[in-house]
Amino acid sequence: MISSLRGRLFIGLTAIIVLTGAIGVMFVYEWAFGEAIELQDSVLSQLASVAQTGRFSGGQLRGVDKDTDVRLIELGKMPHGSADDRQLFGLKDGLQIGTRNGQPIRVLLHTRSDGSRFAIAQPTAVRDDTARDMAFRTLLPIAALIPCLMLVTALVVAYSLRPMVRLAGDLDARRADELTPLPLAGTPSELHPFINSINGLLTRIRLLMDQQRRFVADAAHELRTPITALSLQAENLDSVSLPDIARDRLAALRQGMRRIQHLLEQLLALARHEAPLVERCEMPLTALDGAAKEVVADLLPYALDRGIDLGFQLVEPLVVRAEPVMLSTMVRNLLDNALRVTPRAGHIDVGVYREGEAAVLQIEDSGPGIASPDLERIFEPFFRGSHPQGEGSGLGLSIVKRVVERLGGSMTLENVDGATRSGLRVTVRLSLAAAPSKEVNRVA
Ligand SMILES: Nc1ncnc2c1ncn2[C@@H]1O[C@H](COP(=O)(O)OP(=O)(O)OP(=O)(O)O)[C@@H](O)[C@H]1O
Ligand SMILES: [Mg+2]
Repeated sequence: MISSLRGRLFIGLTAIIVLTGAIGVMFVYEWAFGEAIELQDSVLSQLASVAQTGRFSGGQLRGVDKDTDVRLIELGKMPHGSADDRQLFGLKDGLQIGTRNGQPIRVLLHTRSDGSRFAIAQPTAVRDDTARDMAFRTLLPIAALIPCLMLVTALVVAYSLRPMVRLAGDLDARRADELTPLPLAGTPSELHPFINSINGLLTRIRLLMDQQRRFVADAAHELRTPITALSLQAENLDSVSLPDIARDRLAALRQGMRRIQHLLEQLLALARHEAPLVERCEMPLTALDGAAKEVVADLLPYALDRGIDLGFQLVEPLVVRAEPVMLSTMVRNLLDNALRVTPRAGHIDVGVYREGEAAVLQIEDSGPGIASPDLERIFEPFFRGSHPQGEGSGLGLSIVKRVVERLGGSMTLENVDGATRSGLRVTVRLSLAAAPSKEVNRVA
């Protein structure tokens, strides 16, 4: 059973063409064969009328193709000669079937005005050969037409199914979170019910995702206040004199609180950047170099504290369309990761530069990099790799990925494994916006 619609249509239509062609060929052959026989009969009649004038003498007719084997047989006024001649003499005037030398012949008998008779004869086998040949030639155009029709059928089938293939391609090319309805315009009406069903499904998925996002955001938001209150309470305990063992436990408690607070912040950021904010073209113009400088300045004391050389290798003034918070969230999460994995006295190089029409942000650290098997799953929420370092919620890269997608950019993670350096190189490419500098948002 053929599963492809294109295959089924092609085979079905080809079968119809071949069947119709075969029936047509049979009829045409029969018809052309009969016509060729009639044509040869009329040639015999014409030769007879010429022979009547006495321009031909017995035997092979002059001027007539030898291959046709047409002969003039003079029979005289009375039956005489061979048994074949006498038998021919016994036949009536007109077109008849006779035999000569044991072979069937087509013969036209005629009696002249003086009473002498003659016959124009041609072996039936030669006539049939000629008729078959002529009939075959008539079939050639039809036979040539069948493969042409099959080709045209294949093209028409492929052309007619193109909208379906295009639709599938469009759906495949969509980002996982792109849930805008498929357009009906430009598609054949047969596909409309199908497209409407897909659009209905997309709407339901969008609603479900919105609900889920709101739930996560609301839960994180609701939890933030009591957790902040608990943290304050824990901090208040600091000023109280406590036995050493209680102080150790308080430190563990405060550490746990910080972890929960960080998780809530990351969850809120994920929910915020997942929600379709404004369209990219409506976002303000923001300086990427400014956002990077601001985050680097923020994290510099922490880097210095750990003896890490954090700085810019290259920084060019570049403007992109983005909410300022999106850019700082992106840079902060990437630098936060780099700082967490880079060992003491290591270095982190930041680059903001132009590459064609793209604004590139590159962060390269001297940490251990990410194991190849982990690279595939590294953007999954809560996935922290097979050797997670320090504390974290596993949401940072998911947030960065959402931000980059929202900005219509791309992001690559590659392990640098050279003789002099190793680590992870993260490259984010965003489309550059040409803008008058006074409209540009400087991240303060
Ligand atoms: N620069 C890096 N070098 C090596 N491993 C990295 C780097 N950046 C991320 N990773 C690995 O990817 C994991 C996921 O990173 P991600 O930023 O998503 O989460 P996290 O840093 O663990 O938590 P969060 O960012 O939410 O606090 C990290 O736990 C770490 O194992
Ligand atoms: Mg992180």
